[in-house]
Amino acid sequence: MNILLGITGGIAAYKSAELIRLMKKEGFQVKVVMTANATRFITPLTMEVLSENKVYIDLFSEDERGYRISHISLARWADMVVIAPATANIVSKLAHGVADDLLSTTLLAFQGSVILAPAMNKVMYNNPIFRDNIHYLMKKGYHFIETGKGSLACGEYGEGRMAEPPQIVGFVKELISKSNDLKGKKILITAGATREPIDQVRFISNYSSGKMGFALAEVAQKRGAEVILISGPTFLEDIEGINTVRVETAAKMREQVFTYFKEADVFISAAAVSDFRPARQFEGKIKKEEQNTIHLELKKNVDILKEAGEKKDKQILIGFAAEVKSLKENALSKLESKNLDYIIANDITREDSGFGTDTNKVIIIERNGNTIDLPLMSKYEVAKYIFDLIKSHFERQSKGRIV
Ligand SMILES: Cc1cc2nc3c(=O)[nH]c(=O)nc-3n(C[C@H](O)[C@H](O)[C@H](O)COP(=O)(O)O)c2cc1C
Repeated sequence: MNILLGITGGIAAYKSAELIRLMKKEGFQVKVVMTANATRFITPLTMEVLSENKVYIDLFSEDERGYRISHISLARWADMVVIAPATANIVSKLAHGVADDLLSTTLLAFQGSVILAPAMNKVMYNNPIFRDNIHYLMKKGYHFIETGKGSLACGEYGEGRMAEPPQIVGFVKELISKSNDLKGKKILITAGATREPIDQVRFISNYSSGKMGFALAEVAQKRGAEVILISGPTFLEDIEGINTVRVETAAKMREQVFTYFKEADVFISAAAVSDFRPARQFEGKIKKEEQNTIHLELKKNVDILKEAGEKKDKQILIGFAAEVKSLKENALSKLESKNLDYIIANDITREDSGFGTDTNKVIIIERNGNTIDLPLMSKYEVAKYIFDLIKSHFERQSKGRIV
């Protein structure tokens, strides 16, 4: 495994020395690219000795074989790029496609997995511009190792402290082992809200943004699965390489789900499917001049997940329960009545969890009653956790421990 370690200009650069040592201990080949500013924090000599390789700094210098275009040869050589510490500057340059030194240019020429371990002052870390850059890069498939809380070099206390070297190496190893662990599996996911028309311009819907379902789809695809994503209307764009089917109503969502269900190994229902629909759709647009009151009769919609529970054979079934009270009790009864394997209960009364947010606070309940109470985390991290469970479910299934 060839790892290209990018070091940028922050105090945490001193930890990169230990990081190289640990990477070498794991048997990785390591080459180091330093920004000019990084060399003011730690010497290239230290990095050269520890990595047992030439250290690259200048875009215009030759590589060890006399090749003049180092950014291309380094990008071809590397299986993975790790940037630790990653300054606000390199994150911002990467998010905007800036290639003005060796490290930033190599990053644009590199096609594999990139892990960034940011480190900075807590105000910089929470700056909305920096947060936007991180979200943008995460959407593009870059991996970030969350910073820890602690005392910072600037004398303040808070977020922004770079993850410790053993944690970074652990992340690298996990990424290597997970890069294809769902290969050969078909995963069907629903996302977003549905729209149930009242007339030709109005509809009944809910606040679901589709972010959880899209995060699940992205994680599954990255881990090698074939993903079919059936989404209600959302502002989220299609993810490259994922078969995304766009639908409006619960009935259309049901139709699409059961087109793919039989072939699927896993069905995750993350969509907030409308429980009711208007009993009839008015022709054209209801005119306000014609009446002061309208009586809407609502009819129950089909329960897609329940039907999936009835039709299930090999599929692992996972549902979401958005609850405002008695979270665990309600979720558990949903799990049982719908014949699910797991239910993810999320508390939609919190501002940082549930509909529309980037984070989620969930409790995962397994069929055997086990509950896993996860801390508040990004929807992407929740998705990763769910696929870890699915992975071990498959392993137990193949050993015959689950029938
Ligand atoms: C003493 C000192 C410490 C710094 N620490 C950090 C840091 O931890 N994180 C960061 O993003 N920038 C930090 N900076 C600012 C960066 O060095 C600066 O933005 C620089 O342009 C980064 O260049 P590079 O990304 O090309 O290495 C620090 C600057 C100084 C002078």
